[in-house]
Amino acid sequence: VTVQVNKPGKPVPKNMYGLFFEDINFAADGGLYPELVKNKSFETTEHLVGWKALKGGAGLETYAVLNQQPISATNSHFVRLTTRTASPDAGLTNEGFRGMGLKQGAEYTFSLYARRGPGSVNALTVTLEDEKGNPLAQAQISGLTTEWKKYAVPLRPSATSSRGHLKITLDGAGTADLDVVSLFPKDTWQNRPNGLRTDLVQLLKDMKPGFLRFPGGCIVEGRTLAERYQWKETIGDVASRVPLINRWNMEFKHRSTPDYYQSFGLGFFEYFQLAEDIGAEPLPILNVGMACQFNSAELAPMSSTAGGPNATANADDPTLETFIQDALDLIEFANGPATSTWGAKRVAMGHPAPFNLKLIGIGNEQWGPQYLERYEPFAKAVKAKYPAIQIVSSAGPSPDGELFDKASKRLAELKAEYVDEHYYAKPDWFRQHVDRYDKYARTGPKIFAGEYAAQSVAIGSPDNKNTWDCAISEAAFMTGLERNADVVGMASYAPMFAHVDAWQWTPNMIWFDNLRSYGTPNYYVQKLFSLNKGTTMLPVENKNGQDNLFTSAVADDQAGEIVVKLVNYSSSPRPVKISLTGAKKVGKAGKAIVLSSSDLQAVNTLDQPTNVSPKEEKFSAGATTTYTLAPNSFTVLRIPGK
Ligand code: AHR
Repeated sequence: VTVQVNKPGKPVPKNMYGLFFEDINFAADGGLYPELVKNKSFETTEHLVGWKALKGGAGLETYAVLNQQPISATNSHFVRLTTRTASPDAGLTNEGFRGMGLKQGAEYTFSLYARRGPGSVNALTVTLEDEKGNPLAQAQISGLTTEWKKYAVPLRPSATSSRGHLKITLDGAGTADLDVVSLFPKDTWQNRPNGLRTDLVQLLKDMKPGFLRFPGGCIVEGRTLAERYQWKETIGDVASRVPLINRWNMEFKHRSTPDYYQSFGLGFFEYFQLAEDIGAEPLPILNVGMACQFNSAELAPMSSTAGGPNATANADDPTLETFIQDALDLIEFANGPATSTWGAKRVAMGHPAPFNLKLIGIGNEQWGPQYLERYEPFAKAVKAKYPAIQIVSSAGPSPDGELFDKASKRLAELKAEYVDEHYYAKPDWFRQHVDRYDKYARTGPKIFAGEYAAQSVAIGSPDNKNTWDCAISEAAFMTGLERNADVVGMASYAPMFAHVDAWQWTPNMIWFDNLRSYGTPNYYVQKLFSLNKGTTMLPVENKNGQDNLFTSAVADDQAGEIVVKLVNYSSSPRPVKISLTGAKKVGKAGKAIVLSSSDLQAVNTLDQPTNVSPKEEKFSAGATTTYTLAPNSFTVLRIPGK
């Protein structure tokens, strides 16, 4: 392997390796957003999702969701509990998100709004229980009045349970109304009251991601336009955010009622804040006026006066202008001064400084003439008002590149800055397509490899596993991205998160249950590329992928190191001679970071989270070095020099 140190290429984009976030697989509610109560405000279309009456004893006479004299117009439903006989079974339980993760000794804040009705109920008992119904913590909420009032008590479980639940019972006989019932851990990222789950944020931060794409994915589009993601509905007072059925709910075929909603507790303000916390550029993806083309393919009319054959018939439905205005308002929300309408809302939420938004995506995974005709006026309007904002356009799902080829010509004419390509394919596809961008035009839009993952069994199969075979094949492919870092501006694995008991898609980068989490081998591949992305491209002479050896190289000008990445996709150790041609100074103290497993089917699990994870070793470096690559390995060599 010959690395031409004396022929440095273009700079490696600062934010090249980033993150794709979508609320799929319980990634937000039940995952990153640690509210433990499912459907806390009874505002879901099936109002009692997550809630059940306690069985046994006298129990409740009735429990019903009502809307007379609610807390507020936006939070218009609450639950009324009635019992004629005082009983420890007169109450409700909340199941959480496949249970509640409760940690021994940790503090949780239980809060709710309550008021009493006729009868003697002037207190409530709140209990946290484990899976078997053993009590772990208990508190009383007393002094209920006939007016809505907020109550809060701390709870500290006496033992740990990953599938606990919450029980609320009436003290006395009569009626009480409850709403906005919350159980929130005290321990959140940066100890914020509406903060995020610390272990999951830490895994992301450890990757030093260049960007954070949110909120999806297909969720941006919705199955229908009515179910699209609307960012304005996700900001402001958390209690007033109205939940929406999750686009991925339908994938729970075994559940007869809808079970997966977006509470929007993790909304656009929190996404921007998360991006800032982990040092990533925020990259919101916005609906272009099209629902998911795999589902309803519903289209917003181009304007209030124009229809077209597929346009939505209902005059109340949004037109393209609505979507464009949403985008302009979003930029103002992120970057505008306190004196602007939307900037003021950001300031009111506690972030006076702008979020410094530089990038937006117009449309997720959309293609064809309907996309391009909507993209054009959309992009023009954004550029007219905010010329510095860079735009990511879409090219559909295209492992074969066909949709991409069709779109990219027109997108180049329209001067799109990035084209977002998605590819989910078998591992060998990734190893065979390392040259995907070698001949890509250097003058048009740059590539955003916005969603990709190797699929071990078949595309869309629930049996795909995050095997080392998938991860090493992605590493091989990524040497091709790095060799083309002058046109590949950004790249992200997808999807990011999955709950082990509630997923709709495989494979995923990070898995978790209600208490634990781990990075897959694919996570470590992404992390190694990100942490070792360097600053300047260096040409590597050998043909990439020949004899299953894949290589790329960069200079890290800040560290004064040459970084060589090598993937040995073979079951034998492979000695490789590395020549650093034209290097002015080469130090001896080389560092190798090795990710390997002799078993291509190896995976990480909750119990063995680091089964496949990087190991570091020292080696003696020089202008010419022979290094023996482990069988089936991805190795990063860092060599002092320039
Ligand atoms: O990553 C899962 C899904 O794959 C995304 O929502 C969509 O954009 C793609 O089809």
